[in-house]
Amino acid sequence: MPLMTRLGTPLSPSALKVMFLGGGELGKEVVIELQRLGVESIVVDRYPNAPAQQVAHRAHVIDMTDAKALRTLVEQERPHLIVPEIEAIATDELVRIEADKLATVIPTAKAAHITMNRERIRVLAAEELKLPTSPYAFASSLEEMQAAVDKIGYPNFVKPTMSSSGKGQSRLKSQADVAPAWDYALSGGRVKQPRVIVEGQVLFDFEITLLTVRAASGTHFCEPIGHVQVDGDYVESWQPQAMSAKALERAQDIAGKVTAALGGYGVFGVELFVKGDDVWFSEVSPRPHDTGLVTLVSQVQSEFALHARAILGFPVDTSLRAPGASAVVYGGMEAQGIAFEGVAEALAVPETELRLFGKPESFKKRRMGVAASRGASTDEARSRAKQAAASVKPVSADKK
Ligand SMILES: Nc1ncnc2c1ncn2[C@@H]1O[C@H](COP(=O)(O)OP(=O)(O)OP(=O)(O)O)[C@@H](O)[C@H]1O
Ligand SMILES: [Mg+2]
Repeated sequence: MPLMTRLGTPLSPSALKVMFLGGGELGKEVVIELQRLGVESIVVDRYPNAPAQQVAHRAHVIDMTDAKALRTLVEQERPHLIVPEIEAIATDELVRIEADKLATVIPTAKAAHITMNRERIRVLAAEELKLPTSPYAFASSLEEMQAAVDKIGYPNFVKPTMSSSGKGQSRLKSQADVAPAWDYALSGGRVKQPRVIVEGQVLFDFEITLLTVRAASGTHFCEPIGHVQVDGDYVESWQPQAMSAKALERAQDIAGKVTAALGGYGVFGVELFVKGDDVWFSEVSPRPHDTGLVTLVSQVQSEFALHARAILGFPVDTSLRAPGASAVVYGGMEAQGIAFEGVAEALAVPETELRLFGKPESFKKRRMGVAASRGASTDEARSRAKQAAASVKPVSADKK
């Protein structure tokens, strides 16, 4: 991993160039952090005017699952670093790009390759690293899934091995749910060859994201983030989540081991289930995590600033500034170029910030923005963030 001993001038031969694969709201905040250091940023997405493209030096629109298109673009741009921002990428090509020393992949090409597939990361965590996880089994047909469900029992979760944000995911309560769950998994997965994981339900007290930063100075942990998920998508998060000292120690041990196995520098979002002193590994993002949007207000350095610093090999500070919370603003409608009312009301809430991501197209359940608040406690921060998010009213552009 090359350490940056100096930074250059963007758009000049001395420029340090970073290419983002995926340009959503999380990448947008990282690009802003890099812009502040004069790093040249290039953002690639599957559609034009993605949030991070709007703040980058250059933008490209390609199908990132197309290995040839990806290779051609990397050879054309010659970035120093490649930062995958989404999972749906031709990660085998990233492995080749890294092996050919064309660019450094963040955190590593292997990390992107393993984490895009629930089977690879589960086998690594549970079988190689022996970390506690839910019971699980894999299946490639309805018959195999029936056998897996019979072995795991109810309730259980069925998820396509390649999917994110709850797509194609079902919670099964009884035999009647099996066939519909298989059909739904096929519709939600990213690939043609069907493959699902069946996971026994962990009866947790709460779930957390433990943001873990691998930096030149070593591994650092942020305060745990608690969150509420609806249909596999986060709606609310807060920091710090109170937990026992024993559980925190176990959480950090699990996060340290899984991130060490993935390697490289950067922020990882380690998703864990907690019950009393017990902790289970669920999954990990080798990049900033959506529930970590709360750190925009709650930490001295947000997860985005931490990622920017860590990937360049610079010092990081994971300390908490004050209790905080975030609440999601949904589009609420299917439309292009929507508008937002109630912003003044949202920003009148004390210690509150708003992000509107600038996504060109709104869907009912598409995350279009987020409110983030500090408070004397996470309870106060949560009620402020929810109030602010609820004040923002998406409206269609033609409504005056
Ligand atoms: N085995 C399980 N036991 C209990 N709850 C679970 C289990 N698997 C998933 N869940 C619940 O469903 C949520 C989403 O699951 P998971 O994180 O695997 O899906 P995802 O599609 O990767 O979501 P995202 O991309 O938003 O992280 C979890 O945060 C948790 O609330
Ligand atoms: Mg998840």
